Amino acid sequence: MVISRASRIGARVVRELLSRRGPSAPLSLGASTSLARRHLGARRQSSPAMQPSDKLFQGALLQKHFFCSTTTADGAHGGCDEEKDKISVTFIDKDGEEKQIKVPIGMSMLEAAHENDIELEGACEGSLACSTCHVIVMDVEYYNKLDDPTDEENDMLDLAFGLTETSRLGCQVIARPELDGVRLAIPAATRNFAVDGYVPKPH
Ligand code: FES
Repeated sequence: MVISRASRIGARVVRELLSRRGPSAPLSLGASTSLARRHLGARRQSSPAMQPSDKLFQGALLQKHFFCSTTTADGAHGGCDEEKDKISVTFIDKDGEEKQIKVPIGMSMLEAAHENDIELEGACEGSLACSTCHVIVMDVEYYNKLDDPTDEENDMLDLAFGLTETSRLGCQVIARPELDGVRLAIPAATRNFAVDGYVPKPH
């Protein structure tokens, strides 16, 4: 892009020089390059599109830095938007070990588990064709905050190992602010009918 802009400017400079000196006047390379430099400099200084956006971008950076590094009177940090957009989720593995992680709003529990090296299978990668991402919501209070499972999810849950009243598929549980603090247990075993060629019957 820079090269094509420079060549456009170069052509303009040549045209200007020819019109000033007439078509037969010799063209000195030094004159043309210094003229081109002036043109580029003038464009850089006077470009209305560049300056305001540069200032806006710098302002946004400064604002973000200020917000992220602000310390309140009680000594607490102001925090960043990125932190506010995450919820706390605790996974409990089959041995009863707990791991608390931060999950961005909008991310599925299956993705969050994989990003944090938590052993939740997810054989079909969230396409509702297995039950290996089965999780048990430990508190009914949180379970009730979830959207109702779809028929497809219920079909797969029917096949899950160790189904409970608060079972869900991890790939279908999406992080939302009201789920902050949710605890999810991973069952001791999974069943993967999809891999074995099982096709669920329609309702
Ligand atoms: Fe297969 Fe969730 S990963 S249904």
